[in-house]
Amino acid sequence: MDHSIPLSLYLLFSLPLSLLLFLLVRSSRHRGLRLPPGSLSFPLVGETLQLISAYKSQNPEPFIDNRVARFGQVFTTHVFGEPTVFSADADTNRFILQNEGKLFESSYPSSISNLVGRHSLLLMKGSLHRRMHSLTTSFANFAIIKDHLLGDLDRLVRLNLDGWTGRVLLMDEAKKITFEFTVKQLMSLDPCEWTENLRKEYILLIEGFFTIPSPLFSNTYRRAIHARRKVAEALKLVVRDRRRESERGERKKDMLEALLEDEGRGGDGFSDEEIVDFLLALLVAGYETTSTTMTLAVKFLTETPLALAQLKEEHDAIRAKKGESETLQWNDYKSMPFTQSVVNETLRLGSIISGVFRRAIMDVDVKGYTIPKGWKVFASLRAVHLDHDNFKDARSFDPWRWQNNSGSTDLLNLFTPFGGGPRRCPGAELARAELSVFLHHLVTRFSWVPAEEDKLVFFPTTRTQKGYPIIVQRRDMSRTL
Ligand code: HEM
Ligand SMILES: *[C@@H]1O[C@H](CO)[C@@H](O)[C@H](O)[C@H]1NC(C)=O
Ligand SMILES: *[C@@H]1O[C@H](CO)[C@@H](O)[C@H](O)[C@H]1NC(C)=O
Repeated sequence: MDHSIPLSLYLLFSLPLSLLLFLLVRSSRHRGLRLPPGSLSFPLVGETLQLISAYKSQNPEPFIDNRVARFGQVFTTHVFGEPTVFSADADTNRFILQNEGKLFESSYPSSISNLVGRHSLLLMKGSLHRRMHSLTTSFANFAIIKDHLLGDLDRLVRLNLDGWTGRVLLMDEAKKITFEFTVKQLMSLDPCEWTENLRKEYILLIEGFFTIPSPLFSNTYRRAIHARRKVAEALKLVVRDRRRESERGERKKDMLEALLEDEGRGGDGFSDEEIVDFLLALLVAGYETTSTTMTLAVKFLTETPLALAQLKEEHDAIRAKKGESETLQWNDYKSMPFTQSVVNETLRLGSIISGVFRRAIMDVDVKGYTIPKGWKVFASLRAVHLDHDNFKDARSFDPWRWQNNSGSTDLLNLFTPFGGGPRRCPGAELARAELSVFLHHLVTRFSWVPAEEDKLVFFPTTRTQKGYPIIVQRRDMSRTL
């Protein structure tokens, strides 16, 4: 898929806005302020084209490296129609993330809110956000994973891997597992034709995120809006059924139940529409992210045979103590130190959420500069993760780096794949568990080779170009154990 046409259209649309902002920037208000250094370049298109061409190449890092070298780790650039302060500095990022709601607030374009729905966690603010964030976190915390989710996860991963023979498109399989698991977690539904149909609509919906957000100019966007309506209708039926069940006193232990029982905004509970938006956005948030990370883990491991061998050893040892079909238990999950290093290293090197956008609510002083009120800020998690000063040999896959340093606060302060502060990813622990259980069954049951060469791409999101096709072969467990 070529994204250059939609983006150039997007630029066209943003020109008037960008001109306005440029004039604002030049306005007297900013004359006394010390802005972070940088080149605003051409006022209209700014550095957007350089950014896009860098991220379309095999090596996007120089775009940031060059600017950091010229201006330092906090600089101003002008992308997507707005002056934007870019931070590649861990302390500044932490400051930005921690001051969510006080000095900064998250800022998503309306194209995203149209697709995820107004009542999603992503778009909530203030006290409602705080309450719903903690509710979401409480449905993906250690206790829930231990008591419920680990078993579901084990079963769903097994079920999916049972069907693997010959050529397998890893990204597709990872998406299927992730989706089925999230549906189970949110509303206790097992995989069936209904969930698979829902997933097909979801794929169309997600494609809408990466195109020009106008139904007039983009078929993809039109299709996405349509898919959103269908997904919302399907979810609404589930919510209605469950509301009736809940009133009869039949309670399930899942996210939907918690939403049905919550007092809602005004004290008399959430409406069906609010619940649907909330669930829909949760499905979006965990779907691409977790499945892409699974795929990258396999790619990195395949290219690092020593790491793969050590991982196999760890999981074979766990499996050797259990029967072939015995479910993974919490203590098994807690005895995978090398796996946790592989997971961390994949999250670091992959950095698939490359950073988070915020907007300054007031003039904010950072590192001796002032970020003017209303300006966009991009806290780049990726730039910190790939900085050689932070991580030795930062751009290569080295899971062993986590072994000596595990627990070292220095390293963990620099490592923020799930963001931080009040909007830190509520699915973080869950994503780690998904990756670990997936890797366990993958390496104990299969060996594989890549089916063809498949490179990383970085635009519009980080992933592999072809979804990492592999040829799998079942391992003969009786010989290896
Ligand atoms: C490897 C997988 C994942 C990565 C790298 C990831 C990363 C992130 C990051 C960086 C944020 C912060 C965004 C911001 O501050 O603006 C975030 C937020 C969020 N994530 Fe994840 N995530 C992953 C998996 C998941 C899963 C499995 C779920 C589902 C339970 C999930 C649900 C969410 C939600 C709902 C938010 C919004 C939180 C808020 O705004 O308060 N994520 N994620
Ligand atoms: C710790 O680091 C040293 C030097 O970098 C390395 O030789 C050693 O193997 C590492 N230890 C572990 C347990 O990985
Ligand atoms: C991996 O990162 C998490 C923080 O996200 C940390 O708590 C954990 O100790 C790290 N694991 C290892 C093996 O370093």
